[in-house]
Amino acid sequence: MPELALVNGKIVPLDQARVPIEDRGYQFGDAIYDVIDSYAGKLFCLDLHLDRMERSMKALSFPPIPREKIRGYIVELFEKAGIAKAGIYVQISRGVAPRNHGFPRDAQPQIIMTIRSSSGLPLELTEHGVKMITVPDLRWGRCDIKTVQLLPNVLAKQQALNAGAFDAIFIAEDGVVREATSSNLFIAKNGVLFTHPLTQNILPGISRRMVLAMCEESGIEIVESFFDVGRMLDADEVFVTGTITDILGVVEIDGKPIGEGTVGPICRRLNRSLVERAENSPCP
Ligand SMILES: Cc1ncc(COP(=O)(O)O)c(C=O)c1O
Repeated sequence: MPELALVNGKIVPLDQARVPIEDRGYQFGDAIYDVIDSYAGKLFCLDLHLDRMERSMKALSFPPIPREKIRGYIVELFEKAGIAKAGIYVQISRGVAPRNHGFPRDAQPQIIMTIRSSSGLPLELTEHGVKMITVPDLRWGRCDIKTVQLLPNVLAKQQALNAGAFDAIFIAEDGVVREATSSNLFIAKNGVLFTHPLTQNILPGISRRMVLAMCEESGIEIVESFFDVGRMLDADEVFVTGTITDILGVVEIDGKPIGEGTVGPICRRLNRSLVERAENSPCP
């Protein structure tokens, strides 16, 4: 299957795609991004991703880009690549201009995309769960905007990998558990789920939203509230949610087992429903 890129509407083989070195995304991290997955040949929740891109661009005062233009590029790239289970990366920068902190007056936003096969996580991880570590949250104060400024996330992920863990969980200065480096986090205690409320300190994940919708439909109680590391370690289950991870059980944090140290029943049930939904039914 061809791995392709799209640069401002032009589709090329991925290894031939180039961007100018004065792109502000490259020099300032002045760009937003999103990641869309397909299941069984269908893009999942494309409109929710388009909503989030619009919101991110508005928050950064980018000039408006017609939604249908972005949708058209994504669909064209997806159809041309013909990959049934694909991951599409979309990045939109403020534009290309001589390096200067202030916004350039005439620059046009640059839209780039890549498409690759997305096999998802190895089944073994979904089956047996993953280990995590906690790290202080050193990110900026607008983590609700999906920008490419991911250096703290990259460093935290690497710290986790160096420690033999799968990922890192960001903890606020006051001890509140926020999210992982590329996923939202949930805990379960006595059959009730808890997750960090939508504030400027976490990304409004689309998989998170899906979990809220599925819980409402199936009668699982879910509370959006703050909780600290102690409550997380004392939970019956911990899991993370994201476009790439789907719903992934966390069985050990900072060397301490969570619950029985195995993937819990709520996590398994929700993950099955999410994949089923993505393969068969429209986005809720
Ligand atoms: C920091 C962070 N939190 C949460 C998520 C999960 O978001 P989604 O479910 O939309 O993939 C991501 C995804 O990239 C992320 O980077």
